[in-house]
Amino acid sequence: VFAAESVGELRKFDNVAHRGASGYAPENTIAAFDKAVDMKADYIEIDVQRSKDGKLVVIHDTTVDRTTDGTGAVKDLTFEQLRSLDAGSFKAPEFAGEKIPTFEEVLDRYHGKAGILIELKAPEKYSGIEEEVALQLKARNLDKPQNNKIIIQSFNFDSVKKINTLLPKVPVGVLTSSRAHTTDQALKEFATYADYFNPSYGIVTKELVDKVHGLGMGISSWTVRSPEAAQFLIDMKVDAIITDYPDYVDPRN
Ligand code: G3P
Ligand code: CA
Repeated sequence: VFAAESVGELRKFDNVAHRGASGYAPENTIAAFDKAVDMKADYIEIDVQRSKDGKLVVIHDTTVDRTTDGTGAVKDLTFEQLRSLDAGSFKAPEFAGEKIPTFEEVLDRYHGKAGILIELKAPEKYSGIEEEVALQLKARNLDKPQNNKIIIQSFNFDSVKKINTLLPKVPVGVLTSSRAHTTDQALKEFATYADYFNPSYGIVTKELVDKVHGLGMGISSWTVRSPEAAQFLIDMKVDAIITDYPDYVDPRN
């Protein structure tokens, strides 16, 4: 076991718990986020969408079918309907009764305990969601430079540009798994507004990492589900590793 100081020196990247410690607990639930904090993850990653009646909720898929005992699109269900669902049993019976969290409760419960990597999931389905996310962050003073453990990312680049305009001091990232987005021209365009270029690990090369760094952006890559994938990204020297298993990228292991 390393002393805390030497762990700090050894750790050159952030350990980001993907949908919480979702390898061990049901994704995007308090159980998974608490587990990530217990496992000393630097950040939790969350997916934000919106209920029919306008509440911001934390869930990955655009339907509730896979991760709850309900059916239907997130955007067609009221918050009361969403909240009544069991979001834990799909993972294991011991998690029965876990609920779909709200964005607000995740901010309140985890800010200061872990960084929060906020993904705007399918924002094209939720007109105005960028303003609503911005409002919640501003209400908590989380839009200031000193609160630098909030990052916002999306696969929807227009949405990333919009949130960057609304919250100019909050770092933003673009998500992609497409090699078409790794050309010099594409990367240069991203660098005009994005702080991070966040690719799936299948398209990561040392050359890409160097190019992204050369343009002044950070690079966070996903989704680690094996020790081999973790080692690959450690070797590539990315800035953050987004993983279902925070222990796979813990230098103390
Ligand atoms: O944080 C990166 C990763 O979450 C992007 O993919 O499908 O898991 O939201 P996905
Ligand atoms: Ca995500």
